[in-house]
Amino acid sequence: MPHASKAPAERTAVPRHVAIIMDGNGRWARQRGLPRIEGHRRGVETVRTVTFAARDLGVKMLTLYAFSAENWNRPKDEVGALMGLLELYLRKELRTFVRDRVRLMTIGRTEDLPAGVRRHLAATVEATKAFTDYTLVLALNYGSRTEAADAARGYAAAVCSGSQKLDDASWEAFARHLYTSGMPDPDLVIRTSGETRVSNFLLLQAAYAEFFFTPVLWPDFTKADLAAAIADYARRERRYGLTSEQVNPAAAAE
Ligand code: FPP
Repeated sequence: MPHASKAPAERTAVPRHVAIIMDGNGRWARQRGLPRIEGHRRGVETVRTVTFAARDLGVKMLTLYAFSAENWNRPKDEVGALMGLLELYLRKELRTFVRDRVRLMTIGRTEDLPAGVRRHLAATVEATKAFTDYTLVLALNYGSRTEAADAARGYAAAVCSGSQKLDDASWEAFARHLYTSGMPDPDLVIRTSGETRVSNFLLLQAAYAEFFFTPVLWPDFTKADLAAAIADYARRERRYGLTSEQVNPAAAAE
């Protein structure tokens, strides 16, 4: 059974779903002799800019790795400051998202976030759930391995209850239990700050994604940087395990 998650015919120059590992806030601050939290504060400004830049460039879904399951291990005051920034951001953005028709969704174990953050998240997700043109997904308390463990539990429960047959195991059946159920896979994954790791981010969903690494630190990342990443993506040939000739028969015949 062929297993390509997307037919080559669906290829477009603009990635439908862009996912970003926002990295470099701390280094941005250190370079300026500022506390790390200043880097995060500037990082939130970039989140605002990039959210609308992506839509302007034709992207339909943007996923931002805002807080990983491992980030709890940072110094307590930094975790507290990040949660404070997140709550402030959500409080400010609700009206903007409603006005500009941005749907907000989350992936991750959001139930472990502080009550204030959860309240604002729930209100924003609910208030924007009818919008269909553009979606911002915040990965919060997210990690691919915890996601896989949670999905395995959901899948096992479905088998136990009889709604899923053990012998019908398939990627599609399993993926219904991931946090990303119903979302398209990312086409392009960007990481800022010069690091070239995936850091437990969308490991299963990015199976066929293109990766783009840039040395730009997240607080300095601009619409032009995003456009450059998308232009680079447009030049690539996504083959999904096929040959170049299969994917692009017209060019092969020339
Ligand atoms: C990595 O920079 C970034 C994070 C751990 C969190 C990203 C968070 C934000 C941009 C702000 C909050 C987000 C929202 C959506 C309100 P780093 O601190 O690891 O940088 P470093 O590697 O240079 O130290």
